[in-house]
Amino acid sequence: MSRIAYVKGRYRPHAQATVHIEDRGYQFADGVYEVCEVARGYIIDMTRHLDRLGRSLSELQIVWPVERDALTAIMREVVRRNRVHDGLVYIQVSRGVARRDHVFPVSPVKPSLVVTSRASDPQAARAKAGEGIAVITVPENRWERVDIKSVGLLPNVLAKQKARESGAGEAWFIDHDGIVKEGAATNAWIVTKDGILVTRPADFGILRGITRTTVMDIAREQGLSVEERGFSVEEAKQAREAFITAATTLVMPVVRIDDAPVANGHPGGVALALRDAFFDTAEKTPV
Ligand code: PDD
Repeated sequence: MSRIAYVKGRYRPHAQATVHIEDRGYQFADGVYEVCEVARGYIIDMTRHLDRLGRSLSELQIVWPVERDALTAIMREVVRRNRVHDGLVYIQVSRGVARRDHVFPVSPVKPSLVVTSRASDPQAARAKAGEGIAVITVPENRWERVDIKSVGLLPNVLAKQKARESGAGEAWFIDHDGIVKEGAATNAWIVTKDGILVTRPADFGILRGITRTTVMDIAREQGLSVEERGFSVEEAKQAREAFITAATTLVMPVVRIDDAPVANGHPGGVALALRDAFFDTAEKTPV
């Protein structure tokens, strides 16, 4: 079965799903994106993802490419046409196609919308969570507006590649003060010896992860305390547990940071319990 993508207003096989060479997303990374998890035939936390898409668009003064309800219908249709039961749906909006010039097009152009979907293996993900992953640390070298989910991801790409080459699953960006910001494509958390969940405040220094927000809902339901504050690499190494969150990884235990094991080097019980509770608490939109 060939994969189907939504591009230029139509559903097309991937081989024919192309964008213009002067699309500003392609030339300037002048665009934004979202990734929603698809689990058991539901799109997860779609409302929050679309709220954040709206915020990213407005920060860059890009208008919605289609009405929000229409986008919802397109997302569901792309997931359906690709027969994705578990996996993800990807949405990208660029400012549109215009003759190359750094300033915004003088006469408004229509933003370009691309929606794709692909399957993943939930059992493999569960097995990975049972083992946990290693992270490496890298100096923060991104721009200040990482709260905008922009497609300009080169530092993230390079950090993630470095992690891969080091046998790790994620790279954590560290600020000038030695405080963990977030991962290349995930938010970062620890659990203190007292059982308190700690994650950096979602100010302008990190992306306000949707999975992060839903994990906070679960923590509240389970009576766990959450502290939004920075933590150092040293504190993370000494913590009872560490984990990352994203729509692509859900809650994934971190068992090693650079060369040091976290606690006993095994996935922590809090992280695994949060992962187990995630589907029930998250918003579920049937495909
Ligand atoms: N990344 N921080 C960064 C830099 C991210 O790129 C992501 C998500 C997150 C977690 O956000 P959420 O919980 O809403 O997925 C945090 C997506 C999954 C990606 O780039 O593929």
